[in-house]
Amino acid sequence: MKAIIPAAGLGTRFLPIAKAVPKEMLPLGDKPVIHHVVAEAAAAGFDEILIIVSRGKECIIEYFAPNPELESHLDAAGKSDALAAVRQATSMARIEYAYQEKMLGLGDAVKIGRKFIGADPVFAVLLGDTVMQHSSPLGAMAAAWKTFHKPTVCLEPCAEERVSRYGVAGGRETEASIFELDELVEKPAPDRAPRLTSSAGSRLPFHAFAARYLFTPEIFDCLEKTTSGFAGEIQLTDAMEQLRRKTGMLGITWPGKRLDIGSPAGLIEAARALGS
Ligand code: G1P
Repeated sequence: MKAIIPAAGLGTRFLPIAKAVPKEMLPLGDKPVIHHVVAEAAAAGFDEILIIVSRGKECIIEYFAPNPELESHLDAAGKSDALAAVRQATSMARIEYAYQEKMLGLGDAVKIGRKFIGADPVFAVLLGDTVMQHSSPLGAMAAAWKTFHKPTVCLEPCAEERVSRYGVAGGRETEASIFELDELVEKPAPDRAPRLTSSAGSRLPFHAFAARYLFTPEIFDCLEKTTSGFAGEIQLTDAMEQLRRKTGMLGITWPGKRLDIGSPAGLIEAARALGS
């Protein structure tokens, strides 16, 4: 199955280092963040991957490319552990790349993947600056797809003071941890943010999109029709709301935790959480 990993963008929360080192290439343990994201996708069966990069982020491409000179050096020196680590980085998935020319937003970045996805009935999107602690939700999302044949977004609880930083979902729980969504809003003010309701009818805390999505290719038609939204950007959330109206959309909660490495504090928290 195929996945798109958007990793373009300026990394403004990580300047000045992001001037020269993409935030996706910062280390979590001995691997860059994006290695963990590719490994998560591949482990869930999404091993044909398109990474959306922007100019200046070529070291991502270099990281996943074979390096025969280094490999033969390690081989000759008998450094088999290092050789295996180097080879693992290049063999987890079949990876292609595309450039986002202008920073027009996450929706614009995903739109670039249309040709790559082609006629596949379903594909994943994993944001390249987020890793998952404990477990990936992709397995549960793929299982929900098999049963319900609807696009799915991963959700996690979000404190009221943070809802204006994320995409936020409203909807109703139809079975344990699965919600039929009825409203999706990008970065709403808390008094405009939708809420989820439990199957017993009680109002749940706010829930934000947690950087993992499963889409049908119809999302591309919705993206084509999406004009600039929050912050003047083409918002993936606005296209998702169109798709929801057409086909329905599910939200899934899972026992893990999203670790956003897009800021220094987030990277430190992720390193602690993953014990690296
Ligand atoms: C993006 C999405 C938002 C989502 C967030 C984290 O926002 O637009 O809906 O909740 O990622 O998954 P960004 O962090 O790029 O501002």
